[in-house]
Amino acid sequence: MGMYESVRSVMRFRSFERDADLRRIQAAANLDDLRRIARRRLPRGVFDYVDGGAEDEVTYRRNSSDYHNWEFVPSVLKDVGHIDTSSSLLGRPIPLPVALAPTGFTRIVEPQGELAVARAAARADLPYSLSTLGTRSIEEVAEAGAGGRHWFQVYVWKDRGLVQNMVERAAECGYEAIVITVDLAVPGRRERDIRNGLTLPPQLGLQMVLEGARNPLWTWRLLRSEPITFANVIGRTDQDGTTAVALSSLVNRQFDTSLSWRDIEWFRSIWDGPIIIKGIQSVADARLAVEHGVEAIAISNHGGRQLEGAPTPIELLEPIVQEVGDSLEVICDGGARRGSDILKALALGAQAVMVGRAYLYGLGAAGEKGVDWVLDFLGHTMRSTMALAGVRSISEVGRDLVKRRPYT
Ligand code: GLV
Repeated sequence: MGMYESVRSVMRFRSFERDADLRRIQAAANLDDLRRIARRRLPRGVFDYVDGGAEDEVTYRRNSSDYHNWEFVPSVLKDVGHIDTSSSLLGRPIPLPVALAPTGFTRIVEPQGELAVARAAARADLPYSLSTLGTRSIEEVAEAGAGGRHWFQVYVWKDRGLVQNMVERAAECGYEAIVITVDLAVPGRRERDIRNGLTLPPQLGLQMVLEGARNPLWTWRLLRSEPITFANVIGRTDQDGTTAVALSSLVNRQFDTSLSWRDIEWFRSIWDGPIIIKGIQSVADARLAVEHGVEAIAISNHGGRQLEGAPTPIELLEPIVQEVGDSLEVICDGGARRGSDILKALALGAQAVMVGRAYLYGLGAAGEKGVDWVLDFLGHTMRSTMALAGVRSISEVGRDLVKRRPYT
């Protein structure tokens, strides 16, 4: 054997990936890798808006790190040749207990924005929540993600006619549920956005142009695509994204701080389908949600973007499930980055987890294919964790699958 052949016999080269998006994430092993790639590609202000949290970002970080307060109680020799991650959500079958959380202004990450996410979610057969502050309309998302499950997330504007109009349009387009976000009466203090002087849509000021030199592709795509607006409220308010505003000014001017439990009844009168209240942060409020007859709650601190010092979803899960788990479905929103996190949340009684930043990192790193990558990653890491922990199906996941680490 000559030198060349002997080297060849022990070396394997990864085949050349022709697709530029896939090539960029070819070596990624987890969501943190995607986050780093997204950070490289996006202007700082955009990345920080997606990635950042409120104040010292302690709650934001704990949303993820608190999953480590729990460890598995595995069982071995269980014949894990076949693993099934399917379960149900809002009474309908779901292949993986994951829903895609609403995220505002998704087009600033990638021009296709919400359409790319809706298509990826539909392919994976997972529910996608379009935000009131989305940059694609209710109708566009329904069309792009045809065949998929769509939820519409409601921010309650002072202009109730506008809210009613959006909810009716969602019903018209076959949306399955509304998600009422209740943790954003006033904007959280997101200090990265303050420092960056972020407006929505981002303004191409001098700083952006300088940044543009670092992120030429993002800038080029933004300039080439149609203007970014808040597609669901356009023409109904002077702050519809046709001129740039700071998120805090939009929220302060448009959002209804008087929103209260009574309004849930109003939503019942204008919407026939399931209602999910997103932003429950205490056992007492979970109980009130039951009294108001909603089908589901999402335990959420808005990804650590609102109240700094709020409890983390994974820690609040068990007490809430013990109290209301028989009366409604509980979704754990925030911090899950791997299948093992999802499995822990299920063991503690969640019906599903919601992920937001996770798919935005994928979108920022590799566009629509990056979102596919993330959903696939959550699925296969869930399957491998189930196999290692010794559970073959979701029906085998019980409270005894996890225990609190005694040494934290
Ligand atoms: C909007 O909902 C945000 O969290 O930025």
